[in-house]
Amino acid sequence: MSAQVETHILSGKEVAKNVYAHLNSRIKEAKSNGVVPGLAAVLVGEDPASQVYVRSKTRKFNKLGLHTETVCFPADIAEEDLLAEIRRLNDDSVFHGILVQLPLPREFDSGKILSEVSPEKDVDGFHPVNLGRLAAGTPRFIPCTPKGILRILQYFRIATEGKHVVVVGRSTIVGRPMSLLLSLKTPTGNATTTVCHSRTPDIGSFTRQADIVIAAVGVPEMITGDMLKPGSAIVDVGINRVEDDSEKGYRLVGDVEFDSVQGVAGAVTPVPGGVGPMTIAMLVENTVEAAEQWVSGEW
Ligand code: GUN
Repeated sequence: MSAQVETHILSGKEVAKNVYAHLNSRIKEAKSNGVVPGLAAVLVGEDPASQVYVRSKTRKFNKLGLHTETVCFPADIAEEDLLAEIRRLNDDSVFHGILVQLPLPREFDSGKILSEVSPEKDVDGFHPVNLGRLAAGTPRFIPCTPKGILRILQYFRIATEGKHVVVVGRSTIVGRPMSLLLSLKTPTGNATTTVCHSRTPDIGSFTRQADIVIAAVGVPEMITGDMLKPGSAIVDVGINRVEDDSEKGYRLVGDVEFDSVQGVAGAVTPVPGGVGPMTIAMLVENTVEAAEQWVSGEW
């Protein structure tokens, strides 16, 4: 039998705590300038998972003494009305950040809706201007999940320079910005980056070559131990509801089969308590940054 690798658990919760400790003084500073960093969360429709995510984001803002409002709309709101509401939030100086929770109901053109958010308030980093700046190597707002993943790697001293990182998934929210960030000529980049997606045959043949795997596909437990190089680091972005006979009727699992990577991966992020808390911490950080830019007149 081959020697087992010790698998370290990369706690995003621990990294997030560290982020908040640093953010507290910036929040105090903003408040001493008479500014309470504010976030507007736009929620369209009744998707229960989106409701949970928005609630956990706004709860954190409240806990930190920041301003936040959730603006809810029915799934059948007319596109023009939703665009007008976003313009109203763009013009409201109480909000330094605006997030439109995704996914939007199928009828909406997400690109069109996200493009209406003022790039200066786009704390999710999804506006084409901000994604373009990221691709150009001069980012302003970096999407929260990829930004949080880089912080986890940095905190646990998992170097990316010269490493082969395989990103599984090409979404605008995670996979695409993640692969851009990792290939930038920066201390948290300089990686050789491969992007696998739904049309990639034999994904395991790529992940087995990776020093770091970022699993962001939204397929429950798709990445298994036999798809990994021993000692590699695995970041699990998935939060999937899988039906079971518990009281809730479901349990949450990642895109990684947690048990089967034990003894193979050198490190893995858990679900929950891994990437999730960092996404929220980076949203807070981006909103504080937006408020600071507003104070300093950088807009
Ligand atoms: N849906 C899943 N992740 C995210 C995120 O980071 N931001 C928004 N707005 N929606 C999401």
